[in-house]
Amino acid sequence: MSDRPPTIAMCEPTWFGVEYVINPWMEGQVGRASRDVARQQWQALYELLRPLASLVVQPAAPHLPDMCFVANAGLVLDDLFVASVFRVRQRAPEVTHDRAFFAARGLRVVELPDDQAFEGEGDALFQPGEPLLWAGYGVRSSLESHRTLTGLLDVEVVSLRLVDQRFYHLDTCFVPLPEGRVLYYPAAFDELSLREIERRIPAERRLAVAEADALRFACNAVRVGTTIVTNHASETLQERLAGWGYRVRTTALDEFLLAGGAAKCLCLYLEQEIPDEPRAPVASPIRDAGLELHGHLLDTTLLNRALDLVADAGGSFRVEHFEIGERHDQPSVARLRVSAPTEERLEWIVASLLPLGVRSAGSSLDARLEPVTIAGVAPLDFYATTIYPTEIQIAGRWHRVGSQRMDAVILVDPDVDPPQPRCTLMRDLPLGARVVCGVDGVRVQRPPVTRRDGDFAFMSASVSSERRVELVVEELAWEMRRIRARDGRIVVVAGPVVIHTGGGRHLAALIRSGTVQALLTGNALPVHDIELALYGTSLGVDLARGEGVHGGHQHHLKAINRVRAAGSIRAAVEQEILTSGVMYECVRHGVPYVLAGSIRDDGPLPDTQMDLIEAQAACARAIEGADMILLLASMLHAIGVGNMTPAGVRLICVDISPAVVTKLADRGSVESTGIVTDVGLFLNLLARRLCGEER
Ligand SMILES: NC(=O)c1ccc[n+]([C@@H]2O[C@H](COP(=O)([O-])OP(=O)(O)OC[C@H]3O[C@@H](n4cnc5c(N)ncnc54)[C@H](O)[C@@H]3O)[C@@H](O)[C@H]2O)c1
Repeated sequence: MSDRPPTIAMCEPTWFGVEYVINPWMEGQVGRASRDVARQQWQALYELLRPLASLVVQPAAPHLPDMCFVANAGLVLDDLFVASVFRVRQRAPEVTHDRAFFAARGLRVVELPDDQAFEGEGDALFQPGEPLLWAGYGVRSSLESHRTLTGLLDVEVVSLRLVDQRFYHLDTCFVPLPEGRVLYYPAAFDELSLREIERRIPAERRLAVAEADALRFACNAVRVGTTIVTNHASETLQERLAGWGYRVRTTALDEFLLAGGAAKCLCLYLEQEIPDEPRAPVASPIRDAGLELHGHLLDTTLLNRALDLVADAGGSFRVEHFEIGERHDQPSVARLRVSAPTEERLEWIVASLLPLGVRSAGSSLDARLEPVTIAGVAPLDFYATTIYPTEIQIAGRWHRVGSQRMDAVILVDPDVDPPQPRCTLMRDLPLGARVVCGVDGVRVQRPPVTRRDGDFAFMSASVSSERRVELVVEELAWEMRRIRARDGRIVVVAGPVVIHTGGGRHLAALIRSGTVQALLTGNALPVHDIELALYGTSLGVDLARGEGVHGGHQHHLKAINRVRAAGSIRAAVEQEILTSGVMYECVRHGVPYVLAGSIRDDGPLPDTQMDLIEAQAACARAIEGADMILLLASMLHAIGVGNMTPAGVRLICVDISPAVVTKLADRGSVESTGIVTDVGLFLNLLARRLCGEER
């Protein structure tokens, strides 16, 4: 570092104009920028910088309207000129001129691989006083280029992901300043990048600019010594920068703003203010993994979802190979290389891709097993399971994970040979057990997603269309009959709305007919079912007349009291206190029920399990071996049971709220069906089909 004025390159705006659209600023501006005004504004910037810096002017090449934005020509460090690889084809022809110009100035030109987009200092800014380069990616430059830069420059490269297309280059929203300070516009970055900035720069050294300043390119600023030159800075911003000892000089550059550039874009630092000491090689934290996807990748949008997920999580990808199925029944194969700014992020991305059926390409890695050091607590980077069948590799062999469920950990008992990995709830982890950590050696079998759109038609079954629901129920009844014909298990999960809507007697009929093998619910359904059996009301409403009954609000409490006096629901049936209804039929026909308690419960009934851990375990036992689960109008119980159900079990969710149905049906189109309708109507139609009940 030296005290003499820095050298800055500028490129004449001889051919400037907005001639195409490659960023949101250019939209609607084609042909509107005035070259004369631009020339005057450029000259004013030049005059302002002239006393502060040694300026080198690059002549413009004909018909390259953006070439004046010389910051994107490349990045200079010492005698190296790292030439840009433009992502946008419109600017690619600038590269030849830039290379020739900077080589002629004695710089050693280095080139990045063609497939590593890198837009020069526009996306790479040194932190003054430190061997550290902040590098933007996500819009123009590629994450991969950051790894190459680390190797070329021997400086630490911190990748920051840009998420707002208007701030498409790092230098539009970020200004590193001496003494470990930065000026930046936070909304331009993703969460992870913001955390990285915050981790490295303490709050008192970060100056977040307001949106109004950012949109006038206040951050696209050139700093020379203690002067900051920019198109615009509000009084507040100027005052805050003055507090740090900077004088802000504004100069109108709005003609360039039409093309998405301002002061910094028009300047390229030819010297960097980083320590002179020799630098040692630095390892890049960027990691990548080869992944494979098989199946109907295009028509089921699986590939889009996978790629979106990578991008949204701050990773980047390259499709290395894609083989498209030529006929509608032929699967496609894609091989991807996914990169992420850190090992941890890569693992997170891969873990999120596994449930889509994505696999490591040619991976021969075993699963990493870590011991449980505190009972009931998993190692920090444990693998969290999904509903889909999972296999893990141990000593080179794949083993299917047992008791598959969502939100569990995979436990491997060291004493069992051959290994029998199984899903276990975190709270049940014993000391010393080994748990699968990370994503190596884990593969998930995503059930084939077909193009059957009948299921999506189910989803749209609307409350207003009784005929539509009838058709759906008809198909469902056919499926249920087939399950029962082969002695399969159908489990019903239901909420009290079933009783309030008059669906109780239809559910009772289904139980009586042997259609239901277990009932999972809370305290309220049995309370109101028994209230109905004893007093003819549900929540005080006479269901026959649809009117509230005088004093009816006490009925459910009286019902609870009667059962408590009897000792249990079964005892109430045996003592002939309870002679009809859903619970009565369960007792009479030996259909097991689990009543899982909640904070809302009145009473509760003696049968209601108020120990929630035991209630969860009882529900898990009750759904073992289920072929179909009907989730009827209970968000709480439906979501609870849905989470513990492995893939492959047919789920039918009936609710009046589309949001509840969508949440539950979002498990792959084949095995789950959502029906948005009144549960009373649904049960009526179903009982008519299955039990020949009359309306
Ligand atoms: N007196 C009591 O003890 C008492 C009373 C109420 C609830 N609870 C308990 O509170 C917990 C949560 O109760 P929950 O499961 O009823 O509530 P919930 O909010 O979890 O679910 C009710 C669901 O029913 C849907 N719904 C409403 N009207 C409908 C209709 N006509 N047709 C179809 N769907 C309809 C709603 O959209 C909602 O998703 C349960 O454990 C329950 O036992 C206890």
